[in-house]
Amino acid sequence: MENNGNKVVESEGGESSSKAEGGKDGGEDLTGTVAKHYNELQEAGRQSRALSRIYHMRNFNNWTKSILIGDTLDKIRESDRNKKIVVLDLCSGKGGDLLKWKKGGIDQLVCADIAATSVEQSEARYKDMTERSRNERYGPRLYEAEFIAADCTKEKLTDKYKDPNLQFDLTSCQFSFHYSFESEQQADIMLQNACSSLKPGGYFIGTTPNSNELVKRLRASEDNSFGNDVYRVTFPDPDESSFPLFGAKYNFHLEGVVDCPEFLVYFPLLEKMAEKYDMKLIEKKTFADFYSEKVQRSDAKKLLNKMSALETYPTNDELVGKDADDYIHASQFISTLESQPDDRGHSSRRPVKIGTLSKAEWEAITVYLVFVFQKMGGEEKEVTSPRRRKHDDEEEETEPSEKRAKNSD
Ligand SMILES: C[S@@+](CC[C@H](N)C(=O)[O-])C[C@H]1O[C@@H](n2cnc3c(N)ncnc32)[C@H](O)[C@@H]1O
Repeated sequence: MENNGNKVVESEGGESSSKAEGGKDGGEDLTGTVAKHYNELQEAGRQSRALSRIYHMRNFNNWTKSILIGDTLDKIRESDRNKKIVVLDLCSGKGGDLLKWKKGGIDQLVCADIAATSVEQSEARYKDMTERSRNERYGPRLYEAEFIAADCTKEKLTDKYKDPNLQFDLTSCQFSFHYSFESEQQADIMLQNACSSLKPGGYFIGTTPNSNELVKRLRASEDNSFGNDVYRVTFPDPDESSFPLFGAKYNFHLEGVVDCPEFLVYFPLLEKMAEKYDMKLIEKKTFADFYSEKVQRSDAKKLLNKMSALETYPTNDELVGKDADDYIHASQFISTLESQPDDRGHSSRRPVKIGTLSKAEWEAITVYLVFVFQKMGGEEKEVTSPRRRKHDDEEEETEPSEKRAKNSD
């Protein structure tokens, strides 16, 4: 990696970063745009979700979150099976994970999101769940919950909890952490909200776009944009050789769901910033690797089916993907299976059906990664971070994020 004045250029494959503080041009603040987008987003009913082009992709993402959440709750209970578990759902949206928390048998939940309408909707959903759970004889009892509308990149949540001394066993930030990388201060406040009230040994888990993958796809594209009929990523700045550490903006469009500015999260920098809150990265996996690993487990495989996270191929129904090459991989795989001889040396005559995803959905899914941080002893530390660096000081040794060689995270 070469130091190119204010920016740092990475010569191959991986993400790039600079030592510049907050990379925004002209101090534009995009949190309002993001909040407006999510506030205006209509909640799709079950039926329209079922017809959606990204029906299986959404289910697949929900499966990923379910496994990540379930596995982390299991780890928390390792030392004490009857432990009372308190969770912070950071950027909780419309409450898409409320049922997961119920299934996980937690005791207390705090949901926080910038979009006030989403917070109201999630609270209403929780009230419905409370009503229903009164009539339930079996299954885990419903947790206590509180709901907070706040910009988690600018406001300290401890000032807003009913009990300001509340301590969490787990913070979950799903598909949202990247919004905080608009500026260094916002990323730090988001991290503070995620980690400062965690008990020692507590976890901070999440899913976020993999900036290595985004930059790789950008560099492979012919212009400043890439994607397919499901998702599209557009970088406003055509200079793809270098990116600021913060405020490295791109527009993310996901069919019918998301269309707003997001920011690259340079992961080695996030790791470094998390040290300030005594957090250690214990797992980071692309969605593809996470899936390959977890699907080996029978419970995870069963859940995949139950959640319709894969599409049956071939099918008599209409397939969600309409592009000619959306299912080539599936038909090739089936041909291989069918050509394999059975125990008696005959090739299979039975028509084979498999679970798969359209190529376009898989391409969108594989933009993301899963991360798990754990709180160590619990003491917050002074960490030398890039914020202390001078913009124009090229003499100083470069920061750890820059020292890491290409694609090394
Ligand atoms: C893709 S949605 C994910 C919602 C939820 N975590 C889930 O997995 O269903 C991203 C969420 O991040 C929220 N968000 C974005 N910027 C935020 C901020 N600065 N503070 C709090 N929430 C924010 C949005 O309002 C939206 O609800």
